[in-house]
Amino acid sequence: MVFDVATTDKKKIYNLLIGLVAPRPIALVTSRNEDGGINAAPFSAYNYLSIDPPIVALGVADRPAGDPAPKDTARNIRRTGEFVVNVTTEDLLRQMNICATDFPAEVSEIEMAGLETAESSVVSVPRIKSAHAALECVEHTTLQIGRSRIILGRVVAMYVEDQFVDPAGPYIKAEELHAIGRMNGLGSYVRTEGSFLHQPRIPYSEWVKGKR
Ligand SMILES: Cc1cc2nc3c(=O)[nH]c(=O)nc-3n(C[C@H](O)[C@H](O)[C@H](O)COP(=O)(O)O)c2cc1C
Repeated sequence: MVFDVATTDKKKIYNLLIGLVAPRPIALVTSRNEDGGINAAPFSAYNYLSIDPPIVALGVADRPAGDPAPKDTARNIRRTGEFVVNVTTEDLLRQMNICATDFPAEVSEIEMAGLETAESSVVSVPRIKSAHAALECVEHTTLQIGRSRIILGRVVAMYVEDQFVDPAGPYIKAEELHAIGRMNGLGSYVRTEGSFLHQPRIPYSEWVKGKR
């Protein structure tokens, strides 16, 4: 089956694309509202794109047609130039999902989800206290493409609970962090606990010796 994007409606393109680009990491993004309150919302159109400088990208769709306003996260980042990506782990699944609820503007998702915040080290936007790791970011660029904003954030500090850092690298003890990934919408996720596969890279020098 081939779907020609030119003749496929947008909802179907969304369904297909999120099923094919999966699993995706989930950024639970904190940002500062105009009234100073803290906004939290999850985004799985998310990844790191470069290391030097360290850049992460978020894809934030505008609100549904008819509502001209961008989502609060995109608006806040444009205004303040700062945000924090809180890493979504399995223990935060329920609360992360509550943060995606379209509450009225005056209602705090953080409060509804029973979350608390903690001061970040470089940016003024706080992180989520119970998140085991967080990336403090400043806005590098926001690209407006169609009805989406692609936000590139430069990571200025990385918070990780000590227990998840192997100082040898340092490496993240990813098998213990239990990050989750989003699959094809429809409320489906994957867990990483007990699911790691190992396939080390093959140096060419080993390849030619026939060691595969
Ligand atoms: C797991 C998950 C991933 C999501 N990923 C995205 C995404 O990548 N882009 C997007 O625009 N909305 C995404 N959403 C929906 C937003 O979280 C939702 O629209 C939220 O209310 C936006 O909040 P805000 O207006 O406070 O920014 C996602 C929702 C969930 C539950």
